[in-house]
Amino acid sequence: MPDPLPDKTHIAILISGAGSNMAALLYASRIGDCPYEVVLVASNDPAAAGLALAEAEGIATFALAHKGMTRENHDAAMEAAALEAGADTIVLAGYMRILSDGFVERWAGRMLNIHPSLLPKYKGLNTFVRAIAAGDSHAGVSVHLVTPELDAGEVLAQARVAIAMGDTPATLSARVKLAEHQLYPRAVAEYVARGTDPQYLFAKLREIALALPEVHERESHGSPGFRVGSEKSGKFFAHFADQHHGSRHIAVLVKTGGMDELLNLVETQPEVYFKPAYYGASGWVGVILNRASVDWDHVADWLERSWRSVAPTRLSRLHDAADMF
Ligand code: GAR
Repeated sequence: MPDPLPDKTHIAILISGAGSNMAALLYASRIGDCPYEVVLVASNDPAAAGLALAEAEGIATFALAHKGMTRENHDAAMEAAALEAGADTIVLAGYMRILSDGFVERWAGRMLNIHPSLLPKYKGLNTFVRAIAAGDSHAGVSVHLVTPELDAGEVLAQARVAIAMGDTPATLSARVKLAEHQLYPRAVAEYVARGTDPQYLFAKLREIALALPEVHERESHGSPGFRVGSEKSGKFFAHFADQHHGSRHIAVLVKTGGMDELLNLVETQPEVYFKPAYYGASGWVGVILNRASVDWDHVADWLERSWRSVAPTRLSRLHDAADMF
């Protein structure tokens, strides 16, 4: 039987106000085969208008006023609600709170924000006032990953909005909202779909593999793989498998210590590992890449271990020496 298709990404949306971006995200999720679904709308303001809309649409909601709570405790409650709802990605949509570093770090790469300016211009508040005062020809909107530094994470998508003669912050803001509603659902969908895109996953894998010493890429049985050593006598330590032999997994195959370890991994963590056709018989395990929240450090550890198991001693010794510094 083929493995089940990977699930849609479950997103929790955090709002503080009207929630028009939340609504745009929600309605987009119900059209066609959108790769995400909204599992929770949460707010730091129990009176936020967006909560009533989410409820009417049958989405779970959570509200907790932040007044009188420490930032850490309030963040922890929002995070617990997101986890409880089964969220694997958090999407901020007009959530007007600075988040504690710990919260942001735990969701690194899995928390997105929308900001009404063309970042890196105009971080923080009053972006329209500042863009008009500066005489800019364009304002705009950015979707970015959230990092501890405010509005500074990697920009994933932007849309430019012309500043018209006589624009006020209010008229400009209304037009930027229209652009936001187009951009945000699309940017979120593209971002979460990366996790099931073989080209994206292979590019990530290749970057890690080729950073190991004396590695080259070589095809084997029609799929790319990585070898250590010379072009002539190198040995494979990783194979990329894109839904091979009826499997729905996109995976990297790496060498384990043997059949006992392989079977143990597959039995105890079937969401992470599987026994691949053919290679499995000689102790190679599949590490699944097309699943929510792949830990790329973990993938890198496996690549290094597999590399080490076939690298000439001279190379692995050098690598050990380098690790000591
Ligand atoms: C949006 O314009 C969003 O870009 C902005 O708040 C508004 C929320 O509107 N976010 C920020 O300024 C974050 N620094 P909405 O509640 O109608 O989606």
